[in-house]
Amino acid sequence: MSQAVSQQIESRFRESFGNSAVLYERAVGLFPNGVTHDSRFLKPFPIYVDHASGSRKTDRDGNELIDYWMGHGALLLGHSHPAVVEAARDQVGRSTHPGACHELELEWGERVQRMVPSAERIRFTNSGTEATLMALRVARIVTGRTKVLKFAGHFHGWHDQLIPAASPPHDDDGYGMPGITEGVFGDLVIVPPNDLEAAAAAIQEHQPACVIHEGNGSRWGVVPVRAEFLQGLRQVTAEADTILILDEVITGFRVHQGGFQSVCEIVPDMTTMAKVLAGGLPGGCLAGRADLLDALAFGNSLGKKMKHPGTFNANPLSAAAGCAALDVVATGEPSRVANQQAAKLRQGLNGVFAEKGIPWVAYGDFSAIKLIPGYDGPAPDGDDWVPYEGDYRRLDVKFDDALGHAFRCALLLAGVDWMGWAGSTSSAHSDEDIEATLSGFSVAIDLLAADGLIPPA
Ligand SMILES: Cc1ncc(COP(=O)(O)O)c(C=O)c1O
Repeated sequence: MSQAVSQQIESRFRESFGNSAVLYERAVGLFPNGVTHDSRFLKPFPIYVDHASGSRKTDRDGNELIDYWMGHGALLLGHSHPAVVEAARDQVGRSTHPGACHELELEWGERVQRMVPSAERIRFTNSGTEATLMALRVARIVTGRTKVLKFAGHFHGWHDQLIPAASPPHDDDGYGMPGITEGVFGDLVIVPPNDLEAAAAAIQEHQPACVIHEGNGSRWGVVPVRAEFLQGLRQVTAEADTILILDEVITGFRVHQGGFQSVCEIVPDMTTMAKVLAGGLPGGCLAGRADLLDALAFGNSLGKKMKHPGTFNANPLSAAAGCAALDVVATGEPSRVANQQAAKLRQGLNGVFAEKGIPWVAYGDFSAIKLIPGYDGPAPDGDDWVPYEGDYRRLDVKFDDALGHAFRCALLLAGVDWMGWAGSTSSAHSDEDIEATLSGFSVAIDLLAADGLIPPA
């Protein structure tokens, strides 16, 4: 690839997104890499969004983009859903922080209880990361054990105890991670995803305080999980008297109004939720068995209480947006529509890739669309097909970085904002959006080919 050729996408990108370039110049003096979230980093610079509505967002140059970030998965209803906007607007003038209990936290918690039957008790947090952190501490307090079993590739937020092994490479050198102590690694048991035998053996050997599983598999289903595995894991953990935590931060309310646990018909001991829970505002929660969440109560029968302050826990603004969003989600319609639109897109994309003659493939479950560039396995076979027969060492790999940046820029030039190599739909994505996205991919692929980044069609 010659440098001059590969710069075509970049020069067009600089032309179309000039105001973002100017803002980014300020950002690099403020934030490491100029960004406030790793995945928003983009070369030559990220886009700056001005406003958003439904399936679309508009950047500071007036470019309207079909959005597949959907608030990092939080916006199942699309941007600025009228019911959510109205609820938040109403609440902001009443109180954004009463420094006291308030009725909206009850309303919010009751909705979670109604929709997720395993939620006997709930404690609100500010994020999914906080929720999984809380889940581990509760499990340790209740069981008096220290180890935690997690699955390779599963993401549970960025805190020390679960960030190891959250992403590839899954090689034999272990999962060293800067800043994480050996002590933390020593408490962690990492097992290949979807391997029930390995999980059962590790539980016997290590007697962990808990097993934590990411909803439908590694980072929103990069390595998809089927119901049978989770049912098996439920059985194995119950037999070993080990706490099962299902991390539904992304799947909760998104794949189904009752979460992935409703789809799989299992009852985890504890569940972590965030994203859709708070209707697009910050918020998370730990929910689960009353006897376990009792670890958070004063004067509990354990004689040991977990401390849990947090200035913004159950913040009324998040509660108002969350209640409004959950009322719509409870109908089941948003998940159904988002899942259906994603299936159309997966199928359409595989058609575009075949037509262009490039070895790319789209797959995924529910409202997730995952892409593999340079795929060399058997052809797609139906919508619940899993590439490489689910081999996580082939599925969950890091793709070419330079291609990734150029691909995102090319798609932005074609009017589509895609989240790296994956996207999520919402109930606001129309058939027209799907059609426009397929055309956008076609344009982006041609741009990549013209730049010599993929072979010409
Ligand atoms: C499954 C899962 N768990 C935990 C988290 C962390 O949540 P947050 O970003 O709200 O801290 C995420 C975020 O993407 C997630 O997808």
